[in-house]
Amino acid sequence: MSVETPPILQVQELKKSFAVHRGFLQRKGGSIQAVDGVDLEIQPHQTLGLVGESGCGKSTVARLILRLLPPDSGRIIFEGSEITDLDEQAFKPLRKRIQMIFQDPYSSLNPRMTVAQSIGEGVRMAGIRSKADQRRRIEQLLDMVGMPKASADRYPHEFSGGQRQRVGIARALSVSPRLILCDEPISALDVSIQAQIINLLKDLQQELGLSYLFISHDLNVVSYICDHVCVMYRGQIMEAAPAGALFDSPCHPYTLKLLAAIPGSKTSEKSKSLATDRSSIAATACRFGEQCPDATAACQGQILGLREVAPGHFVRCCLKNEALK
Ligand SMILES: Nc1ncnc2c1ncn2[C@@H]1O[C@H](COP(=O)(O)OP(=O)(O)O)[C@@H](O)[C@H]1O
Ligand SMILES: [Mg+2]
Repeated sequence: MSVETPPILQVQELKKSFAVHRGFLQRKGGSIQAVDGVDLEIQPHQTLGLVGESGCGKSTVARLILRLLPPDSGRIIFEGSEITDLDEQAFKPLRKRIQMIFQDPYSSLNPRMTVAQSIGEGVRMAGIRSKADQRRRIEQLLDMVGMPKASADRYPHEFSGGQRQRVGIARALSVSPRLILCDEPISALDVSIQAQIINLLKDLQQELGLSYLFISHDLNVVSYICDHVCVMYRGQIMEAAPAGALFDSPCHPYTLKLLAAIPGSKTSEKSKSLATDRSSIAATACRFGEQCPDATAACQGQILGLREVAPGHFVRCCLKNEALK
């Protein structure tokens, strides 16, 4: 990507913690740092994968970008302008430019609204006034996602999971967004349908010049659709790289663990069991320390920033820091 093209989205040092309530009186019992200093960058017309196991903070990142949640700190810059502290009124026009696709379109589509009504909301928001033009646009959107025109007058429960996800995508497209946050968009679908939806997203990206944040717990899926990948673990980015570099020369022990989980992967043969004496490792500053098969006592007390190990390839690992010294 040339230097002149600014990223469509930049996220800098984003943090969000949640209060944890315990006991039957629901007393406040500390907090969980769901997102802990996350940096991301998405280039125009590209897809950034955000991957990591369930609960690591991926959806929270998306909700912070979309301002469904206020961040504790950090900056969100969209198309060159900071949007972190915009009030609702100032953010309103931008809401059309950033859309989200959810894992389960059934829960995001109103079951009492026809497809035309669901998509029609966005079409009206996009400024299309006359009923005839609205209908034409709804049918055009359905056509773009591979659904027949007749589906406009049907209800969500009449469709399969894959068809509902197509409707969810049409609804997101109805306001002509530039960036779509795809939060596990295929995780709830049959494997046979997953590839169709991924291919649809790829085709739409080409056709409309869209940018995606593609959230998944599955590195295999990410390898297929993403230009860049960020691997997240317990609120932090552990490794970030162009997709080719991440899959050809993964560095972080957590990335290796995710790769080893892919059936038939080369890495699975190399996956190691945990070292027996874990006592010194428990105290390491590394979030992954207790799980890490490579951790040694040398990891203790190390400051864990992201380090560039090759051009554009960043890793948060003391062992890599050692290797670079
Ligand atoms: N609204 C909330 N209140 C309290 N805790 C939350 C809330 N949303 C998310 N969390 C917690 O934050 C962590 C990250 O959650 P989430 O972003 O949903 O992870 P992921 O999408 O990677 O599965 C989890 O431990 C989750 O329980
Ligand atoms: Mg999630």
